[in-house]
Amino acid sequence: MLALIMKENAVRESEIVNIIFTATPDINAAFPAEAARAIGLSAVPLLGAQEIEVVGAPRLCVRVVVFVDNGRHRDSVKHIYLRGAVGLRPDLVGVQTFGMLNVAIDGPAGAGKSTVAKGIALRMGLRYLDTGAMYRAVTWLALSQGVDLQDAAILSRLAREMIFDLNADSQLTLDGRVLGNEIRTPLVNVSVSLVSSYEELREVIVEKQRKLALRGGIVMDGRDIGTTVLKDAPVKIFLVADPRERARRRLVELRALGHDVDLEAVVLQIEQRDYFDSHRAVSPLRPASDAVIVDTTNLEVEMVISHILDIIARKKDAI
Ligand code: C5P
Repeated sequence: MLALIMKENAVRESEIVNIIFTATPDINAAFPAEAARAIGLSAVPLLGAQEIEVVGAPRLCVRVVVFVDNGRHRDSVKHIYLRGAVGLRPDLVGVQTFGMLNVAIDGPAGAGKSTVAKGIALRMGLRYLDTGAMYRAVTWLALSQGVDLQDAAILSRLAREMIFDLNADSQLTLDGRVLGNEIRTPLVNVSVSLVSSYEELREVIVEKQRKLALRGGIVMDGRDIGTTVLKDAPVKIFLVADPRERARRRLVELRALGHDVDLEAVVLQIEQRDYFDSHRAVSPLRPASDAVIVDTTNLEVEMVISHILDIIARKKDAI
């Protein structure tokens, strides 16, 4: 079975991080680790464990989970079933299941994505990732190191070396430190669209975003989540709002951070950023064909959240 998993998924030994074998409690004379050594995997860490007794669970089953690090998205993984097994239990699979649901929230600047996405994550006990913060972090680091923002190659290299993670409160960390308001300055605001338009840099960042989503159970907000990053997310929302209303919201945020800016300047900036984000060649801002469009112009945050929770509940019934 292990050999088949590797063959069908074109996995090489050097790409395997570890392998876990489990057997149902009615199996007591199998040594899967020996089988792995027998097919030539001499250096890979292996773990064998017996599953707990669960009423109604299938009998005489062995499962093999191969953890690989080869940059491929898990949606392309082929599951292998032998001797009459036909699939994983739906509640264990991840993306398709409700408990581990992924939600994609896209839209232009100031449409309310991050507030709404955080609210949904909190209510559903999911993790939250603000993908714009990752592009902002690259921009901020590049600016603080004096990197030329026209130099796509250096920026991609810089991005590749950055280690992003989410802490237990879904705060984005860079190299172990929580990112704060340093990535939300007016200078970062006007520079980030250029930085995020480079193809290679986007590939690097998208791969990091998918890694953070590997476990499932995440709400991500951004511009290309439904179209690129989580193409298979069962729930996709595209938030829109009138540009003046979006500028007004941004103005409140910027003033709260102590930046002295006026409304007209923010309207202009937001319109420019939207134009740039939706006209770039790679992953432009646009709704996925299966996204639900929600106009937040005249809606309070709580109304938007409960509307989206309704959409998710309907989706759940349909799964
Ligand atoms: O969401 P936020 O306004 O913080 O995003 C900052 C910028 O990052 C956007 O204007 C866009 O250029 C870029 N971005 C992107 N793809 C994403 C998220 C953000 O290109 N998924």
